[in-house]
Amino acid sequence: MADLTSHPDEVKVISQRFGKGAANIDRYLELDGYKAVQKALGMSADDIINEVKNSSLRGRGGAGFPTGMKWSFVPKQSAKPKYVLCNGDESEPGTCKDRLILEHDPHAVIEGVMIAALSIGAKVGYIYIRGEYRYLSIIMQKALADAYAKGFLGKNIFGSGVDLDVYWHGGAGAYEVGEESALMESLEGKRGVPRIRPPFPAVVGLFGGPTIINNVETLAAVPPILHNGAEWYAKLGTPKNGGTRLFCLSGSLNKPGVYELPMGYPLPKMIYEVGGGIWKGRKIKAVTPGGSSVPILTADEIDLAMDFDTLQKAGTFLGSGGVIVLDDQTCIVRYALRTIKFYQHESCGWCIPCREGTDWLKKSLTRFHAGGGLMKDIDNMTYLAENMLGRTFCPLGDAAAMPIISMTKKFRSEFEAHLEGRPCPYEKAGTPQQLPVLA
Ligand SMILES: Cc1cc2nc3c(=O)[nH]c(=O)nc-3n(C[C@H](O)[C@H](O)[C@H](O)COP(=O)(O)O)c2cc1C
Ligand code: SF4
Repeated sequence: MADLTSHPDEVKVISQRFGKGAANIDRYLELDGYKAVQKALGMSADDIINEVKNSSLRGRGGAGFPTGMKWSFVPKQSAKPKYVLCNGDESEPGTCKDRLILEHDPHAVIEGVMIAALSIGAKVGYIYIRGEYRYLSIIMQKALADAYAKGFLGKNIFGSGVDLDVYWHGGAGAYEVGEESALMESLEGKRGVPRIRPPFPAVVGLFGGPTIINNVETLAAVPPILHNGAEWYAKLGTPKNGGTRLFCLSGSLNKPGVYELPMGYPLPKMIYEVGGGIWKGRKIKAVTPGGSSVPILTADEIDLAMDFDTLQKAGTFLGSGGVIVLDDQTCIVRYALRTIKFYQHESCGWCIPCREGTDWLKKSLTRFHAGGGLMKDIDNMTYLAENMLGRTFCPLGDAAAMPIISMTKKFRSEFEAHLEGRPCPYEKAGTPQQLPVLA
């Protein structure tokens, strides 16, 4: 079997079965599969939740919310059915980890959903996979069918007397539907726009019933936690940031890829050792540490431990774990333009600050990058983005605004250089930009 370990510092928890054929249910069983859920069947709901709480597992979808605490918010008694929803809509630029889990270890995701369901007394779970991941949907559908065929799902699972169904659901391809309330709308067959909160999904979620929604990677971490114990998992990371994380390294690196490293791993080491350093002998200009929606770091700001709390203190976020490295010949204005084009395209149009703000920013940055900018545009773009912050229905507005604000503020001189050296000075110098700008 392929050894997919690429660096000695990798700690294989989520990726322990990658390359080992575990999409096959018999192979998954040989590799300790479905043992954790059988253990969970012998535990009380509170004990499962406490185990996950003690592991310090935090959501890998972006916000880093403590998983066990989220599960504990679900009311014990409910007139409506409860649900578990696995968020496999992975679309954040720079993030490509859930796809590997769904491809190499789909049963770990199913098992995570099952344990989550036992912890809240849900009888139904859904695994929602983005439309573009069609090949992964096929893998997941087969994995679910195999689990039913073995009696692990359906009536009386593992002969325990418990009934539990888990279904696959495919998306139609919209970044916004990764937002948990829009995901529920989509799953209910409606247009994928967010819901106003409160009420929160733990109380009123899918079809009006209490619902927990977790990312693919979060749920895939649950079976190893139950199997090996909360303390073991917590100790792999740092206090309040248990375990490991699949970090997606991309951009100007010699060895881009997805690496499983302990939470709190030093960012410089991640870039220079794990990622093989900056390509073509260049220097770092900036790093986006948690997917395209988080504030950018300058080269002088990267001496950080990669956990949720440290990055927040540094004014950015660990987000979805997508680390994008920019070298000294990458144009920040072009990067800002490429970023806002994505958010403008993916804005669902529901609220004005996001719908109009992303469009104005795209137009301004397009003109600016092409050499038609004015000095006052830099402040105007910053002001516009700052006025989007916190004024939208869902965090997509913030996700679009935050990186732009950080770029206009931290790299102002580079914006100004576009005024003196019209058009883009990097293109003028004959350096082709690595980031394609789509229409
Ligand atoms: C615009 C937008 C897109 C999102 N996309 C995803 C996604 O693709 N996958 C994901 O797990 N979470 C995504 N999230 C976060 C979810 O709303 C939610 O917080 C997450 O699924 C909770 O799971 P966790 O606690 O395991 O992180 C997105 C949020 C926003 C605002
Ligand atoms: S912030 Fe953007 S994506 Fe979110 S509801 Fe408003 S328009 Fe839609």
